[in-house]
Amino acid sequence: MRDKLLAAEKVKAIEWRDGKLGLLDQRVLPREETWLTYDSAAGVAEAIRSMVVRGAPAIGIAAAFGLVLGARARLAAGGDWQAALEEDFKVLAESRPTAVNLFWALDRMRERLQRLKAGEDVLAALEVEAQGIFDSDREANLTMAQLGLELIRKHQDGPQKLLTHCNTGALATGGFGTALGVIRAAHLAGLVERVFADETRPWLQGSRLTAWELAGEGVPVSLNADSAAAHLMKTEGITWVIVGADRITANGDVANKIGTYQLAVNAMHHGVRFMVVAPSSTIDMSLEDGEDIPIEERDGRELLDVGGQRIAAEVHAVNPVFDVTPADLIDAIVTEKGVVERPDAAKMAQLMCRKRLH
Ligand code: MRU
Repeated sequence: MRDKLLAAEKVKAIEWRDGKLGLLDQRVLPREETWLTYDSAAGVAEAIRSMVVRGAPAIGIAAAFGLVLGARARLAAGGDWQAALEEDFKVLAESRPTAVNLFWALDRMRERLQRLKAGEDVLAALEVEAQGIFDSDREANLTMAQLGLELIRKHQDGPQKLLTHCNTGALATGGFGTALGVIRAAHLAGLVERVFADETRPWLQGSRLTAWELAGEGVPVSLNADSAAAHLMKTEGITWVIVGADRITANGDVANKIGTYQLAVNAMHHGVRFMVVAPSSTIDMSLEDGEDIPIEERDGRELLDVGGQRIAAEVHAVNPVFDVTPADLIDAIVTEKGVVERPDAAKMAQLMCRKRLH
């Protein structure tokens, strides 16, 4: 499966080249494929905030390279560059609050700084660390795709109808995707009859990104309004909802794109299995449960306007962009360290003690 996935790879969203960070601008996809280039930490932080790059693992990777860019400028400026670099850590950490991969990646960069030996090339060391974060995310996705595929096979054979939410593909990660990686692998294994992609209001990650990625690879995909999901579960014989995650707490609660929670409630009601696919960098063992996850609230204009034009009445709009699905609605959490079925605190703790499977 690994070779098949590698051969089918078409989309990438992040490129580190000649000491600069290239990001495929996800705000204008699929209408335009525009690459933007960044050479400062503040620029990368703004790219994360404005969602040029989005998706938990991709945000972490971009932040790591942002820190490399920051370090280069601070070293060139001379003086106490490590103290000055704290400003870059801060600006990157403040770019978005919910996906823990961002903080995980910055922590890794900080640890690397703390391990610097006398006379070591600082920039080379940081660049290797950031590239390692990028590469290991790609590898984790390949492992999870295989594990998720095995999980589907354990319960079903023959082509299935699957439903997904938001975008968890190559665009959201270092490559292949988390939930979309499993869906890709299932397609390559002949296990996909159709993928239903929630449009994912208000930012339309489903319509603009997931539908584009899947259609581009010949995966049979239908777009549906988010509010059609329960009806489709009742009438279409969907067997799995497969989603990603932005933060998973110690008890197995999962923060993901707004609308995921209602999908899980509906899935349980209709006997549809619910799979969460996320690398261990998305697991935050410092939080006991989902209550403590900071939920990003974005500008109400994302709801009030369409294509920059006001379509709603002149009212206040509430726009939380993530929600928390309680662990007891989840059939399985698939990570690169293994699969946790019916997650709880004990099983999550056991998982975190394991090594990666690749
Ligand atoms: O607001 P976004 O587009 O960054 O939200 C992305 C999601 O919620 C994804 O489902 C999650 O990050 C997992 S991506 C592999």
